[in-house]
Amino acid sequence: MANILCIGAGYVGGSTMPIVASHCPQHRFVIVDINEARIAAWQSDKLPIYEPGLDEIVTKTRGRNLFFSTDVNKHIAEADIIFVSVNTPTKTFGQGAGRAADLQYWEKTARQILENSTTSKIVVEKSTLPVRTAEAMERILNSNGSGLHFDVLSNPEFLAEGTAVRDMENPDRILIGGRETESGRKGVETLVELYANWVPRERIITTNLWSSELSKLVANAFLAQRISSINSISALCEMTEADVSEVAHAIGLDNRIGKYFLRAGVGFGGSCFKKDILNLVYLCEHYGLPEVARYWEQVVAMNEYQEMRFASKMVSSMFNTVAGKRIALFGAAFKANTNDTRESPALEVCRALLEERADIVITDPQAMENAQYDLGELAKRVTFEADPYAAAQGAHAVAILTEWSQFAQLDYEKIYASMIRPAFLFDGRNLVDHLKLYEIGFNVYPIGKPALTHLRSQ
Ligand code: NAD
Ligand code: UGA
Repeated sequence: MANILCIGAGYVGGSTMPIVASHCPQHRFVIVDINEARIAAWQSDKLPIYEPGLDEIVTKTRGRNLFFSTDVNKHIAEADIIFVSVNTPTKTFGQGAGRAADLQYWEKTARQILENSTTSKIVVEKSTLPVRTAEAMERILNSNGSGLHFDVLSNPEFLAEGTAVRDMENPDRILIGGRETESGRKGVETLVELYANWVPRERIITTNLWSSELSKLVANAFLAQRISSINSISALCEMTEADVSEVAHAIGLDNRIGKYFLRAGVGFGGSCFKKDILNLVYLCEHYGLPEVARYWEQVVAMNEYQEMRFASKMVSSMFNTVAGKRIALFGAAFKANTNDTRESPALEVCRALLEERADIVITDPQAMENAQYDLGELAKRVTFEADPYAAAQGAHAVAILTEWSQFAQLDYEKIYASMIRPAFLFDGRNLVDHLKLYEIGFNVYPIGKPALTHLRSQ
């Protein structure tokens, strides 16, 4: 039996470790966090994150071989293997502000591991980090001449929110990077054995430390790049009467391109794509590669353009003013099946419309609390309404900003009947049947497809 600790009970630590624990009943897992409220929530019936299928797994493992705690030091002392999944947000101050990763939480953790260790350990980078962070980590951990030895491994996480359980149960691959030394190789083998409890061996790949660290940033950059690429084409489609869904389907059938991540929309959100690309940009600049930096920076610029293009289209379509007009935003989460609103395009659109003095109502099945928190002071100017029908009542426009299946199943005749005329529907996720809504009476504005409008001269 090994004592396995995860530092950081956020989206990653909290959703991955219970699954590992469920497949490895022979080991004891503890997840710690400095955030007491978060740990209390993990110990309660209402988990701090909404992730389909996770409740059952936590209920099954909690108290059996999975424990939550705020006593970080005690559990560091007891651990054989430590996964570190603390947050690594974009730096907001000093050198590299707005681009580089803020490594303060990560470094504090490293020092805390060192201070509280009485035995040698394997330390696993689960957080997404700049390439060569493991080197700094090794220097800190092996700095006090205590005779203890720390093997630092990189094991980046590739799960997506909303499908975390599925992704972790059946991953495309598990990536483990380690040193090419005897003890480094032993550490890698220990981690391979852990995952091999449920992941087929051929899907567990091992690389050197730097390839592993860099692959995580590159995977996110490539995924985001595909979205920005198709979103850039959506703008051209709107000008030419081409249909972006048809274009995506046609190009995606080419095996070399592939069909995934070609869904045009209001832009990508989430806590990682933007952060990780900016981190890549910063690294390229740091290593004297400004052309490479500019190339990747454009993926983020295109995303911001897409978000603003959507908000501007709403304003221009509604006779160039939304001041005082009630507008219902369907969705606040950055994607369906999560309560996460970090970097959500829905909130970007909300901010842009508030700037235009619109009267905003937000509805979302899971993410209202986080939306309120993320909007900060602006939340006071927004109405939060759990019932989408009530949100749309008396509105000039509905904007679909998150692809919750619930929103596709609503009775849009009922919604139309309760709205001000002309009634507008902006579909930022191409979620609903546009022709049907047009026939009900809506002026419909999809992404990357011709608008269907009853207004003359448009
Ligand atoms: P998060 O903010 O939800 O969780 C991080 C947690 O770490 C917080 O609860 C925080 O209180 C805790 N923490 C910070 N410092 C600590 C310390 N010294 N001791 C104990 N706890 C501490 O972040 P997240 O979304 O889980 O992401 C964590 C990392 O994983 C990031 O590097 C992110 O880029 C990466 N990642 C995230 C996802 C995702 O879907 N969210 C997917 C893959 C990788
Ligand atoms: C993403 C990656 O998919 C994960 O592999 C990675 O582990 C994670 O980031 C991370 O490092 O945090 P996530 O952000 O949770 O996962 O969700 P995605 O499914 O990738 O969606 C990201 C954003 O892109 C969402 O706003 C989504 O609506 C948007 N998207 C996605 C599109 O607009 N079009 C698409 O075709 C796909």
